[in-house]
Amino acid sequence: MSRIEKLLSQMTLAEKLGQLTMTASGYAVTGPIIAGDSTESIKDGTIGNLLNIIGPGPTREVQQIAVEQTRLGIPLLIGLDIIHGHRTLFPIPLAEAALFDDAAWELSAREAAREGASDGLSMTFAPMLDVSRDPRWGRTAEGSGEDPYLTSRMARAKVRGFQGSSLSSADAIAACAKHFCAYGPVTAGREYASVDISERTLHEVHLPPFVAAVAAGVATIMPAFTDLAGIPMTAHKALLRDYLRDQLGFDGVLVSDYNAIGELMRHGVAADLADAAALALKAGVDIDMMADGYRKGLPIALERGTVTMDDIDVCVRRVLKLKEDLGLFDDPYRRGASAEAPEVLIERRQLARRIGARAITMLKNERDTLPLSPTVKRLSVIGPLADAGPEMRGCWWSAGENEPHVGVLAGIRKGFPNTEIRHAPGTAINSADRSGIPAALQLCNDTDAVLLCLGEATAMSGEAASRAYPELPGQQLALAEAVFEHARERGVPVIVVLFSGRPLVIPLLAEKADALLAAWFLGTEAGNAISDVVSGIVSPSGRTPMSWPRALGQVPIFFGQRNSGRPLSQGDSFTSRYLDVPNDPLYPFGHGLSYGSFVYDNLRITPDNASEADVITVRVDVGNHGRHGAEETVFLFTHDKVASVARPLLELKGYGKISLQPGETGTVELLLPASELRFLGIDLKPVFEAGDIEILVGASAERSRLLLGHLQLTD
Ligand code: NOJ
Repeated sequence: MSRIEKLLSQMTLAEKLGQLTMTASGYAVTGPIIAGDSTESIKDGTIGNLLNIIGPGPTREVQQIAVEQTRLGIPLLIGLDIIHGHRTLFPIPLAEAALFDDAAWELSAREAAREGASDGLSMTFAPMLDVSRDPRWGRTAEGSGEDPYLTSRMARAKVRGFQGSSLSSADAIAACAKHFCAYGPVTAGREYASVDISERTLHEVHLPPFVAAVAAGVATIMPAFTDLAGIPMTAHKALLRDYLRDQLGFDGVLVSDYNAIGELMRHGVAADLADAAALALKAGVDIDMMADGYRKGLPIALERGTVTMDDIDVCVRRVLKLKEDLGLFDDPYRRGASAEAPEVLIERRQLARRIGARAITMLKNERDTLPLSPTVKRLSVIGPLADAGPEMRGCWWSAGENEPHVGVLAGIRKGFPNTEIRHAPGTAINSADRSGIPAALQLCNDTDAVLLCLGEATAMSGEAASRAYPELPGQQLALAEAVFEHARERGVPVIVVLFSGRPLVIPLLAEKADALLAAWFLGTEAGNAISDVVSGIVSPSGRTPMSWPRALGQVPIFFGQRNSGRPLSQGDSFTSRYLDVPNDPLYPFGHGLSYGSFVYDNLRITPDNASEADVITVRVDVGNHGRHGAEETVFLFTHDKVASVARPLLELKGYGKISLQPGETGTVELLLPASELRFLGIDLKPVFEAGDIEILVGASAERSRLLLGHLQLTD
């Protein structure tokens, strides 16, 4: 008999339900949801999994109780939200997405996993794979932006990074693809609100990243808090059981979101906790995080006959299998057994700095305002986010809360040692107080440049952080206006460094700044990364993974829209448009400048008939006509102009990179698998349809600037 079957045969109902329960260690003692002494519950085998406990000491202590003091000695699974780093924080996922670099995404996840594992953890609740086209939604910060292809590539890289080559290694942790699924299109961008989208959009936009994660071997998946057309995801049998498990073959662990089983009552689909627990279990949710619905509700559900012991056993088997795969039975203490060497931590911070610098997305750079010369004499660093180390963290700081995070001022001081640097905040991030503005304006006199650091507080994006006005909070716009005016009169350039967990609505900054850097939230090394870009040590290469709206009324705005029967046409009133704002975004998906200047030429497609090859090779020549060496990201889109179901005007199918010195030209080669030309037909089944496919290649989703070629698809 296998270890798992043997254990199962020995377990009481209470012990089985313990394996299906995950509690937050702190709350286990005092919290409103699961109360009682967690130590006692671990000892009697009725809590089998923990979250939010950190450190080799504490994790070992609880693990010892589970392994050495319980009847069956089953080790605990210990999880934490390691989303963009653990102690060393990397850029938020939205910022990292701007790299369009799968290897870098994998590497930062690998490093986060190593750091987390050395703290005794065996699971993270990441990657977050929710496609977001609505910057009001705060969780936009946690994902990869608006595109399903990009999010799918991120999914694969992150799963590989967290889980490494073997889940049982001491430095691997189980990944968790979340939130399954379609959490991004919450009504009006309001957190936790209802979702109601078409089945087509579900399958074309929101499911592909999860398909990719499952194919990459993700160990666990978390259903979303939200409902989809009235069915809460935690109880969505059709999607969790029939689709995820039966169709995709996912046999890993489904872990509920925090108290989501209890919330089935508030959703209005369960009358009591026993009902809620039965719905979740029947849908295939293995672990109940924080609702205590399985421990309290399933015994009643068994009596009612709404679940069977077999239903419970199936879930227990999956949880025990995960623990076995993680090597926890063989050596429950392997994670956290040895501290990491100081050099490892130093190298990790260097990596965070490099990735941070590459995530910075230069939205504007008039008259080559940037980079600043290292010999610049005086620099004024103004704004509420200039000297704000803790604000650099980003929305999930895991165990990095109290680490030293480098703010802009500190980074600039180090990067410009011979420059006289002055600082004034001007105003607080989100206050009505303008009294500091005059002092900030003083610093626009006698200076060579102003670095104006504006944006959201780090806590204004992430979970439970929807904003109806995704723009500069507080009095920052007033500060910006005053600084622009004052500096302009004195001929001083103003470089805006903008912090946000989402694209913001920033027409004034876009118009008046001499240079504009989207710095998102870059984590521990933020200030150094920004300094590297400002000084030109690094050419910015980030490309925005979301369209930036000109006005909130354009939301949702994304490049993958379909045409209209009445597309925008100048001079014709009865076309698809606004009376008061252009249709196009302020900055399109993929936009991002560098210190180079790239020209595209000579698009070649071989073969030009897709039926003749499994993979089509698309080549384009790229030349750097600028004065600095830089890296360019090249995007490959397709457009199927005539199909039985209208296709989006642009569909992202690939991206590549090239680094070129001034005057240098190179060729970028992009591979387009013919299978990518399939789409979901009228009946939502995949089809190939003969015809002409446009191939569009270039620097962003701004269609008019893309090179156009053609590919035939014959029967
Ligand atoms: C709630 C969030 O929705 C989820 O993303 C997270 O993993 C859990 N809380 C655990 O912290």
